[in-house]
Amino acid sequence: MVKVTVCGAAGGIGQPLSLLLKLNPQVSELSLFDIVNAKGVAADLSHINTPAVVTGHQPANKEDKTAIVDALKGTDLVIIPAGVPRKPGMTRADLFNINASIIRDLVANIGRTAPNAAILIISNPVNATVPIAAEVLKKLGVFNPRKLFGVTTLDSVRAETFLGELINVNPSSLKGKISVIGGHSGDTIVPLVNVTPEIASKVAKISVADYEKFIHRVQFGGDEVVKAKNGAGSATLSMAYAGYRFAEGVLSSLAGQSSSSAIPDSSYIYLPEIPGGKEFSAKYLRGVDFFSVPVVLEKGEIKSFVNPFEKLKVSKQEEGFVQVALAGLESSIAQGTNFVAGSK
Ligand code: NAI
Repeated sequence: MVKVTVCGAAGGIGQPLSLLLKLNPQVSELSLFDIVNAKGVAADLSHINTPAVVTGHQPANKEDKTAIVDALKGTDLVIIPAGVPRKPGMTRADLFNINASIIRDLVANIGRTAPNAAILIISNPVNATVPIAAEVLKKLGVFNPRKLFGVTTLDSVRAETFLGELINVNPSSLKGKISVIGGHSGDTIVPLVNVTPEIASKVAKISVADYEKFIHRVQFGGDEVVKAKNGAGSATLSMAYAGYRFAEGVLSSLAGQSSSSAIPDSSYIYLPEIPGGKEFSAKYLRGVDFFSVPVVLEKGEIKSFVNPFEKLKVSKQEEGFVQVALAGLESSIAQGTNFVAGSK
């Protein structure tokens, strides 16, 4: 019996993500919250013949606080794809001004109403919205770093797809055989492709130019979608799939199952309070606290993380990418943290 709440459920990501969640037999209640059309999406999904009971929650006006409380009451897992997506020419950082306060306010409601829920943050810029969530929960005295996840799975999904094309293997067979670490925007995204000898030997045969194109495509693949949609938004369907893939891992762990992948999916997490995280951050990340690493889940929370530098055969070149990523992450984390410090 698991209650899952989607905040931003009527959006481009929220709708297909909610559809996938409605198909999961572990979900007993699917609670959909949005400031528009949540009830319509809920009515539609409720006709699908799976056990999950679907409820829709939408505030009657700006002052109405009951809808969000009803949506969150007793929930085990909250997934947040609420906020504005990019338009052509925008970076994820440009979204900060609008999405920062949306995340701050939603997470404050989660902290007050469902302090034990696992929280998956999709809203961009993830590099800053996750630090915002952490600060808000800290202020409320309910921060559990094992249960706060920045969703970076789309970067892994893209890396598997693009590398599969390049080395001519079925991309779905690459799940768990390569990894993506760092953050979730541009050059903070660091694909690791030498993890297994089998894939590393294939990667060794691709030209330098093709490898560089691959790295660029994983880091900036989102731009391809933004451009193709020409003002109508950013990745929604591939993101719904990726968000569901990560949520499914959390749900399986709640049911006592462990991941079948050799390397589990990464998530952008707060390291200092995860066992070994503080030392890892001091030794490899110049003390940067938030970083995406493969996470081992147990009972809906982080049990441990995989240290890429010890376990995932990080090449010299990939180490260089990590150094670039750290610079970007430092400023995004500071931006998120300062935003909450400056808020009432
Ligand atoms: P969208 O505009 O289609 O949907 C967003 C939904 O959020 C809308 O239905 C809107 O009504 C709702 N919303 C706005 N304020 C809200 C609030 N205070 N409470 C509840 N709901 C609220 O946008 P889309 O395409 O679904 O993208 C959502 C977010 O996900 C964006 O920030 C986007 O940048 C991000 N994203 C993240 C990715 C990742 O890999 N983590 C990949 C792609 C997008």
